[in-house]
Amino acid sequence: MSAPTVVPLIAGEPVHSPAPGAEWWRHAVIYQVYPRSFADGNGDGVGDLPGVTRRLDHLKQLGVDAVWLSPFYRSPQKDAGYDVSDYRDVDPLFGTLEDFDEMLAGAHQRGMRVIVDVVPNHTSDQHVWFQEALAAAPGTPERERYMFRDGRGLAGDEAPNNWQSIFGGPAWTRLAPGEDDGPLGPQWYLHLFDSSQPDLNWENPEVRTEFEDVLRFWLDKGVDGFRIDVAHGMIKAPGLPDWAGKVAMVEGTDPGAPEDGATGAGNNGPMFDQDGVHDIYRAWHQLLAGYDGDRCLVAEAWVEPLSRLANYVRADEMQQAFNFAFLTTPWNAPALRTTVNVSLAAMDEVGAPSTWVLSNHDVVRHASRLGLSAEASAGPLNGIAAHDPQPDEELGLRRARAASLLMLGLPGSAYLYQGEELGLPDHTALPSEVRQDPAFFRTEGAEAGRDGCRVPLPWSADDAGFGFGPTAATWLPQPASYARYAADQQYGVPGSTFEMYRAALEVRHAHELGQGRLAWVEAYADSTDVLAFQVNDVVVVANLGESPVALPAEAEVLVASGPLGSGDGSGVADDGVTLPLDTTVWLRAL
Ligand code: BGC
Repeated sequence: MSAPTVVPLIAGEPVHSPAPGAEWWRHAVIYQVYPRSFADGNGDGVGDLPGVTRRLDHLKQLGVDAVWLSPFYRSPQKDAGYDVSDYRDVDPLFGTLEDFDEMLAGAHQRGMRVIVDVVPNHTSDQHVWFQEALAAAPGTPERERYMFRDGRGLAGDEAPNNWQSIFGGPAWTRLAPGEDDGPLGPQWYLHLFDSSQPDLNWENPEVRTEFEDVLRFWLDKGVDGFRIDVAHGMIKAPGLPDWAGKVAMVEGTDPGAPEDGATGAGNNGPMFDQDGVHDIYRAWHQLLAGYDGDRCLVAEAWVEPLSRLANYVRADEMQQAFNFAFLTTPWNAPALRTTVNVSLAAMDEVGAPSTWVLSNHDVVRHASRLGLSAEASAGPLNGIAAHDPQPDEELGLRRARAASLLMLGLPGSAYLYQGEELGLPDHTALPSEVRQDPAFFRTEGAEAGRDGCRVPLPWSADDAGFGFGPTAATWLPQPASYARYAADQQYGVPGSTFEMYRAALEVRHAHELGQGRLAWVEAYADSTDVLAFQVNDVVVVANLGESPVALPAEAEVLVASGPLGSGDGSGVADDGVTLPLDTTVWLRAL
């Protein structure tokens, strides 16, 4: 191999400057806790709020600014809590309202904010409203809270339209015959997800008032914000027209370098991203503005292109939106550069921070995704089964660390999914008998579903259940390999994934990268292998190519995602440092 040439890391003109505004959410690193899998306090094998409280010091040590908790509300758990039966109470599985207060106070004492999930598109079928609707006649106010319709055909026995559920199968379920049925027989109700998750009718003012009250309930408790589930789904096109397009939440990635940041991961069609949905967020913006502190709303909206996503974070709407275009961009330098540019430009247009996210509870963890061949990773991203092509765990971890360090260098707000700070992969061989995701059942196993990324965290290598709780019980089995990822194997260990994240967050804060200006390094501006940019006084260089990249000898390394090459054997002069493939480094700008 010929010696790589050292090129100066000189940045060009900034392509992004932070919008004015000192609010914490403009640059926060936010850690997603998936309560059932984070830490178990009572030994029943399911994580809970006391478990979260007990592990708050882990998050403090990591250095995150805020925690977002997935739902812990009362729920029959048909979709792991995204089927809420009481929005103002904690499910006994997770503890009590007092446990919530304690967790919130513990986080606040440690200087961390807390965001909770709100699921407004649908309730559980066990919610009192849906039970009332079932007991009521067609056309009554009880039915008007949901999306009930007569069927098509002379006997009303065909679904009102051809929409499919995101979890597979039809999006309509017909009620059992009742006394009040009209000539068309029992009505049908819409569920974009599982049949146990009926969609609410957001054209009905009563629904709006109810959710404003739910928001107030949690704001009064002191939460710092809300993550809005399926934020693009609440308003449907008038007349609910037929539509046979794709409804999958995460379909796959467009391997090209998308000009508009569209990777193929967005939902469209008459059930999503209707302009009317924005009125809801304008009202909620006002509601939050009535509270002290900088409370925020975060959109979970799988919409494309990024200019459509930006509509959700206009100045009078939400504060942030998850950047799924970034999550679904392949590990490819030009594609990532385009996504970063398009993301920053789209959000700058409306004065909002861009967010960055690589993993969450709905997708294969990036440590597994990035260990798949390009071909395999272009398929559905929401689960890997034993019979699917398996990720290369070592490659996946190396790339995941490089991708995370790249992400944490970007200005704006970054989301971490619990366990990624340990480098956790998915469980990619869960047996069918233990799977719980409704997507697995509704597709009759054609989709593995999302259980693989939801496996209980390993805290200590030598304890039963890897220290998830006081007993060996874990609601999903952990793979044996989780022993080597356990938190206690990583604390204070130089080079561990946890220590890399911790160091990166420390530098990110000290150098105010979240609030920074971003400029691409000129020499690599069009590189097909290397991504290099400067934010404030830090230069981030990621090598996605085959050949090592020579770094200026005088460069001071602040954090690296893996071992750097040196003069011996790497082909550069003795005092040279090289950046191996699939590695990211942060350098102090010269
Ligand atoms: C959540 C999923 C959930 C779905 C239905 C989402 O997008 O993140 O976990 O299954 O909404 O509530």
